[in-house]
Amino acid sequence: MIAPPAGAPDAPFIAISGLRKSYALGGVVVHALDGVDLGIRAGTFHTIMGPSGSGKSTLLYLLGGLDRPTAGRIVVAGAALQEMDENALAAYRREVVGFIFQSFNLISSLSAWENVAFPMRFAGISRRARRERAFALLERVGLADRRQHRPSELSGGQQQRVAIARSLVNEPRLVLADEPTGNLDTASGQSIMELLAELHSDGRTIVVVTHDPRMAAYATHQVFLLDGRTVSDAEYHAVTGMPGGPIARPVAAPASV
Ligand SMILES: Nc1ncnc2c1ncn2[C@@H]1O[C@H](COP(=O)(O)OP(=O)(O)OP(=O)(O)O)[C@@H](O)[C@H]1O
Ligand SMILES: [Mg+2]
Repeated sequence: MIAPPAGAPDAPFIAISGLRKSYALGGVVVHALDGVDLGIRAGTFHTIMGPSGSGKSTLLYLLGGLDRPTAGRIVVAGAALQEMDENALAAYRREVVGFIFQSFNLISSLSAWENVAFPMRFAGISRRARRERAFALLERVGLADRRQHRPSELSGGQQQRVAIARSLVNEPRLVLADEPTGNLDTASGQSIMELLAELHSDGRTIVVVTHDPRMAAYATHQVFLLDGRTVSDAEYHAVTGMPGGPIARPVAAPASV
């Protein structure tokens, strides 16, 4: 299990308030996030859904410390991201967050295990120890027999598993995934969802941006975005025609590891 966050027992692990992100392009200002307030408790599994351009990736990137807000606050485990300098933000990304992208973002010239080990390269860890850790993580995601394969020699689902193993290298308490099943066929997508559900049962906090309503079945909470603002499930359903309510989980919960 992942240790619970420090701080007041009732304080949410993540507290987002008045969050805004604006982009000015060619004289036009786009409010990608237009005042988002959100509390996320430790150990929850949140999905973020919304139409294209509604601000989902922007929200996830800000939460992951990959970008900075125009205004507002993000406090994670008592630490205010917007007050961190670049070094502190880099440490936050490295130590607290595991990030999973739709396009896997693997290095094509490296083997699966070298990709997983990549974030450890400057951490003063011996190559042997990095290799052992990478091997263990690849086993964890069901790829023990693909350690030496390069990304081009792996299926999409396998590449995403490698990316998930890489995201776990520093034992992140918070796992953020931006459409992790977006490039995968139905069966591979399902197995990635189940892997995320396992990470959740390990005690991690999971936030997944997704277009796939099946992902909601794994979530403890659903967040809906329209035009850079959070809306209720009823409003989301009324505006988009997409299901807003909870969806029954299709399979039994995977066993906790
Ligand atoms: N770097 C940028 N420069 C200018 N505008 C941007 C930038 N990044 C995002 N935007 C704009 O901000 C809005 C929100 O973008 P975002 O990528 O968060 O949407 P999204 O909900 O993730 O969409 P999708 O489902 O297509 O991935 C969009 O209107 C987009 O054009
Ligand atoms: Mg996006």
